[in-house]
Parts: sequence; structure tokens; C-alpha cells
Amino acid sequence: MKTGTKFIHAGTEPDPSTGAIMTPIYQTSTYVQEAPGKNKGFEYARSQNPTRKALEEALAVIENGKYGLAFSSGVAATDAVIKLLSPGDEVICGNDMYGGTYRLFTKIFEKYGIKFHYINMQDADNIKQYLNANTKLIWIETPTNPLMNITDIAAVAAIAKGANALLCVDNTFASPYLQNPLDLGADLVMHSSTKYLGGHSDVIQGALMMNDADLREKLYFIQKSCGAVPGPMDCFLVLRGIKTLHVRMQRHCENGAVVAHFLRNHPAVDKVYWCGFEDHPNYEIAKKQMRDFGGMMSFTLKDDSIENATRVLSSTHLFALAESLGGVESLINHPASMTHASIPKEERIKNGLTDSLIRLSVGIEDAEDLTEDLARAIG
Ligand SMILES: Cc1ncc(COP(=O)(O)O)c(C=O)c1O
Repeated sequence: MKTGTKFIHAGTEPDPSTGAIMTPIYQTSTYVQEAPGKNKGFEYARSQNPTRKALEEALAVIENGKYGLAFSSGVAATDAVIKLLSPGDEVICGNDMYGGTYRLFTKIFEKYGIKFHYINMQDADNIKQYLNANTKLIWIETPTNPLMNITDIAAVAAIAKGANALLCVDNTFASPYLQNPLDLGADLVMHSSTKYLGGHSDVIQGALMMNDADLREKLYFIQKSCGAVPGPMDCFLVLRGIKTLHVRMQRHCENGAVVAHFLRNHPAVDKVYWCGFEDHPNYEIAKKQMRDFGGMMSFTLKDDSIENATRVLSSTHLFALAESLGGVESLINHPASMTHASIPKEERIKNGLTDSLIRLSVGIEDAEDLTEDLARAIG
């Protein structure tokens, strides 16, 4: 199946009992059994739900994987991956990633004896010096949130294989429309489905996709044992979102290019972080592993003060000042005080995430309205 057909048909079959073309929302906690142990494959909704099953099949298909698992949030999906590990195990991850992932690693899992190395991942070879017999997982986010750094997935996959470690890629920013890490050798793909998969800012959800049956069994065991499962209504919303992912992403990419170039040419704007610029330090890798460059970007102002950034952040009308990303509507965000506030200031600044950095999630409105909105706000 070609991309568009795949996104529309992934996981959905007409409902066998009624022929309903859309997967029904099976709002039930349990299933009546004919006799003890004799059931239709569904026993209790924390373990199985038909709406979730359809979504999980769709999740697998859209990432070219064999298996998908849905979680109650993106961080719940990340949490499940780290629960594969044991005390003493080590993880190598980026020093520039979503603040909530950093918080989960540092504040929850470090105290259980898991060691995390937060390193620069723009040069994959940098990873090698942190590998040892305890390395069990390499975690990458590419493009990174919010600095749009790129990591070479195929190169890291080769390093992970050589070290017998799992590679998990947070593919939230790219979405499966732009990048498929399993095809590049990753063992696991993680998504905050809250973002582009849902696409309409109306659901919190996470996903894991993989090819290995054993890994799927271990993660399914964690999913049902720890219980971070999404409700059927939320599964329905993400299933519906996936059907339009390709058309939305196409427009996100077109608008993203227009807004990135507008910002770069604006006299009051200093740096623009967007991986579609030919002079982006990782442009060649982005071009190699992504189909286009998306609608996420960050920028700083020449008058690089928090006051000036706050003025711009509070002056847009179409770009709504809010956390999150990937919805049809454009959002503007201040990572230092919002999405990345959980990272200590020194750590943030050291890795280039300054107090005045502004992040944009460019939506699918008319691009001209978006640049006019930014022009008015930047002044
Ligand atoms: C790149 C990335 N990964 C993971 C997450 C966490 O996802 P959720 O908010 O659905 O738990 C986010 C949320 O912003 C994110 O941007």
C-alpha cells in the first residue's frame, strides 16, 4: 500500500457485528464469558479492548512494524520501555530532548538504580565512549524538542546492534509520515500520539511500535501489569486522526517551510532552528532519513532578552500560547518556562536552550495569515 492508502486503511475493518465502517468505541470494562476461561479473546479491558486493538494494529502498520501498543500518554509509553531494564543497567540518551522525558529519567528512574548518560547525539560516534557491558538501551529523539537537532538513526542502530543494546527512537516530531525508524534499524519507536497522530489537540496518548515478538510480549506484560492504558474513546480519536495524517503533514511541511524562511529573513530575528535549511548542521542526515522537514521550529530574537521574547509570545493571535504541538492549529511556546521547565537552568543553557528561545508548532492554516500574525507580534 502507498502512504495515503496505508494511513486511511491501517487497522480498520468494518465492524463484524453491524458493518459499521468506523471502529466502534467499545466503552466496556469487562466481557461476558461463556464458561470460565472460554471467551472471545477479550477478558478485562485493561488487558484487551477491541477499539484499542484496532488502533494498535494501525500503529504497527503506519510505522512499518509488526506490533503496536497504545498507552495512556507518551510518557507512559516511555515509562514502559524503561521498565524493561533492571537496577545497574545503563541508558545512553540525548542531552537535548523533551523535558518530560528528562524528568522521568532523572527524577523517577535514577533512584531505582538505572544510570543515564545525557550526551550530544549529533555525532553518532560520540556514543561509543559511553558504551559498556551494562548498556542496555540507547534512546534518541530526532528531530529534538525544541532545538531541532538531528541524529543519524541508521548509524546509531549499527552501534546499538554491535553493543547488544536496544535502540528506541522518539519519533514524535517527525511522525511516521516523515520518518520510519524501524526501517532504519531501530528496535522500538515511541510516539506521543497526543501530537501529530491525534492531530487535533483533543487527546493525550502514547504509542510503541516494534517488530520483535519477544519484545512485544514483554512490553504488553508491562502495559497490562502497570495499567497505563488509554480509554476506548481516546483510541477512537487517534484512529481517526491517523486517517488524515498524510494530508495534514503535507500542509505542516509546506507551511513550515514558508514560516521558517519568513523568520530567517526577518531583521529582528536572530537564529532560526529548522532542519530544512541547507546550512542546518545536520541537514544531510535529515535529508537522508526524512521525507520532508515538518512544521516544528524554534527561534531567538536579536534583542535577546526574556522581556522581548515574552512580548512576542503574548502578542500573537493565530499562534496560541500553549504547550503541546502537532495539532491543526498553530501554537507558540516558551520552552524555558513551559515544556522544558523541568530541566535545571544550567543544564538547559549548556545545551543551547536559552531563556529567550521561542518554539513554534506551525499548523495547517493559510501560511500568509501565519506570517502576518508573526510579523505583527515580532514588530
Ligand atoms: C518529543 C516528545 N516526546 C514525548 C512527549 C510526551 O508525550 P505526552 O505529553 O503525550 O505524555 C512529548 C510531549 O510533549 C514530546 O514532545
